[in-house]
Amino acid sequence: MAAKTIVVGNFKGGVGKTKVAVMASWELAYKFNKKVLLIDMDPQANATTIVARSSGIGDINATIFEGFKNGDLSNIIVKMHENLDLIPAHVTFKNLPKFLYSKFKKDIDQITYLKNLLEPIKNKYDYIFIDVPPTISDYSDNAMMAADYVLIILQAQELSLEGAETYVSYLQFMADEYNADIQVVGVLPVLLRAGGRVDQSTVMRAQEIFGEDNVYENYVKHLERLKAWDITGIANQDQHDKRAHQTFIKVVEEMLENIERLENIKYFEEEGGTGE
Ligand SMILES: Nc1ncnc2c1ncn2[C@@H]1O[C@H](COP(=O)(O)OP(=O)(O)O)[C@@H](O)[C@H]1O
Ligand SMILES: [Mg+2]
Repeated sequence: MAAKTIVVGNFKGGVGKTKVAVMASWELAYKFNKKVLLIDMDPQANATTIVARSSGIGDINATIFEGFKNGDLSNIIVKMHENLDLIPAHVTFKNLPKFLYSKFKKDIDQITYLKNLLEPIKNKYDYIFIDVPPTISDYSDNAMMAADYVLIILQAQELSLEGAETYVSYLQFMADEYNADIQVVGVLPVLLRAGGRVDQSTVMRAQEIFGEDNVYENYVKHLERLKAWDITGIANQDQHDKRAHQTFIKVVEEMLENIERLENIKYFEEEGGTGE
């Protein structure tokens, strides 16, 4: 079985995308015993820094851009844990657009390059997570074309669906224009402000737009410990660590349930016959 590929989406910076991509990958590998590949598509390489630090990996030689240039990602994969591999990013990856334009004439070839590069390694994993920069760009286009699912981040305290809504309308555009075959696997409310509360009217509007089943009951609270892990690395020592892990274990459980539900629907649509 080929991996399920998931991109964490929202066209806004600083909403917790990288945190969710890193922690969902981490819990799937450590707690759920799944084979996971985390792909860092962001030249800022935050996910790379955090995961490498947490895994005690000091030196990373080759990064994603070398893989893109050589047309082969298998040599630049770095093992972080028995179950967790990383495709690391680096600031040089900022030249991805130039590279794609010189390599490919057609835009469909430019935006399906990651999808094609993943094909030979997909069957080694249960799940592949892609962390992207917060822009509508060649990075997000490549991730969208490669992914089966998107987990959309909802800023639960902002009284706005900005970023999440943009993402969904762009998703529709990509489906119409390029046949992108990607489904929403959920809308995850995230609180980034200390003492912030989930704004219920935002959640209700999200339920209207995305469907009630799609907005997660579990949400990611603001936890100082989650921020601290950027510097200390991901830990599992005291009760604050455990609470932070528990947040994402629940989110992953809900995501897995949603994936199963969507896979069943897909299965019945494909195998369901004429429905007479
Ligand atoms: N649930 C959370 N609680 C506290 N801080 C968080 C949480 N999620 C993310 N952060 C912090 O907020 C900042 C932005 O998060 P990040 O995941 O990098 O956002 P994005 O990838 O959307 O730009 C980082 O410093 C991160 O550590
Ligand atoms: Mg990020």
